[in-house]
Amino acid sequence: MKITIGSDHGAVELKDAVKKVLAEFDVEIDDIGIFGNANVDYPDVAEKVCAEVTSVNSERGIVLCGTGIGISIAANKIKGIRCALCSDVYSAKMSREHNNANVLAMGGRVIGNGVAGEIVRAWMTSKFAGGRHERRVKKIMALESKGENYAD
Ligand code: RB5
Repeated sequence: MKITIGSDHGAVELKDAVKKVLAEFDVEIDDIGIFGNANVDYPDVAEKVCAEVTSVNSERGIVLCGTGIGISIAANKIKGIRCALCSDVYSAKMSREHNNANVLAMGGRVIGNGVAGEIVRAWMTSKFAGGRHERRVKKIMALESKGENYAD
């Protein structure tokens, strides 16, 4: 499995910690940056990571910013993305089992590396449960085109 990961300047250290945990799994890690401390705009990072996921170059993505909020909001604007912002292990597990989340978001200024590592392990090892959740995930994805009608 290939996983694309990216962060803004609010989570560079967390990105390194997450990569170490990902190395425990049989995955190819595609790190799109950032690699220094320069300020960048998290929507650009979300777009780069999610482009890899939606083009099926990567099966999954991990996006990181200071809170995880901005980058998860941005990721969820991209068609085909189901991004879950997680700060606890239970949510990470459920985001795979119930929501089939293909992108995980976390906040480098919110959680420590230890918790983040456990979140990543849970997210990597949990599988989509299907069944009634399949119907609900299909309804989520249908909202991508329905939403345009609410602008008026
Ligand atoms: C950057 O300072 C910060 O706004 C960003 O990392 C994130 O927390 C946004 O949601």
